[in-house]
Amino acid sequence: MRKKIVAGNWKMNKNLQEGLSLATELNEALKGKTVNCDVVIGTPFIHLASVAKAIDTTKIGVSAQNCADKASGAYTGEVSAEMVASTGATYVILGHSERRAYYHETPEILKEKVLLALANNLTPIFCIGEVLAEREAEKHFEVVKSQIQDSLFGLSEEDFGKIVLAYEPVWAIGTGKTATADQAQEMHAFIRKILADKYGQAVADNTSILYGGSCNASNAKELFANPDVDGGLIGGASLGVDKFMPIIEAF
Ligand code: 13P
Repeated sequence: MRKKIVAGNWKMNKNLQEGLSLATELNEALKGKTVNCDVVIGTPFIHLASVAKAIDTTKIGVSAQNCADKASGAYTGEVSAEMVASTGATYVILGHSERRAYYHETPEILKEKVLLALANNLTPIFCIGEVLAEREAEKHFEVVKSQIQDSLFGLSEEDFGKIVLAYEPVWAIGTGKTATADQAQEMHAFIRKILADKYGQAVADNTSILYGGSCNASNAKELFANPDVDGGLIGGASLGVDKFMPIIEAF
């Protein structure tokens, strides 16, 4: 059965000391507790090693928010998938809409990043989602399908089985405007159908598809109750344990 996952994406928030406090506070909050989902935190690169050392990584997975599209070499300022893995992180968020929009990440670049992540045993949390104009033009299904096809459908069935998807409608990110539970379910079911057509029903049934975009303590339960919504990728509400724990406990 596919995993239920609640993953935090801290984005470019929290300095190292603040990040360490947040991670250790979450670690404490989860100690001795049984939760019904995997928990992941996506920290800035420079926090990864210290956070992975400070927490119980068997209870909280550590994720980067990006990695380079090259394995190593003269790429000043870049951080490779191998480097990410060497910190103790086991996940990497790839293809986030902010990286696509602000850092011009193309489907081809993302394809390389996914391959390097997999080669270094990192689980990619691969983000997809339409902008508002695309939804209004009723192109959202087409857009999401292309994003998946263009970056992921070159993967073998075995490798695809290692991917976690996150549907994040761009109009819902940081806006307080969440997709309704029906909109989320509709898209997630559509995505699962595309996966089934390409890789077969078993792979589709085993792929975790997370929802992201203004997910918080008050709407998580309703969103996660949908049969095809396997958890959340949480931005703002992952920046405080008081806001993040109730989302984890929504399962
Ligand atoms: P918010 O939860 O702040 O809307 O961000 C969602 C997101 O982009 C997670 O990757």
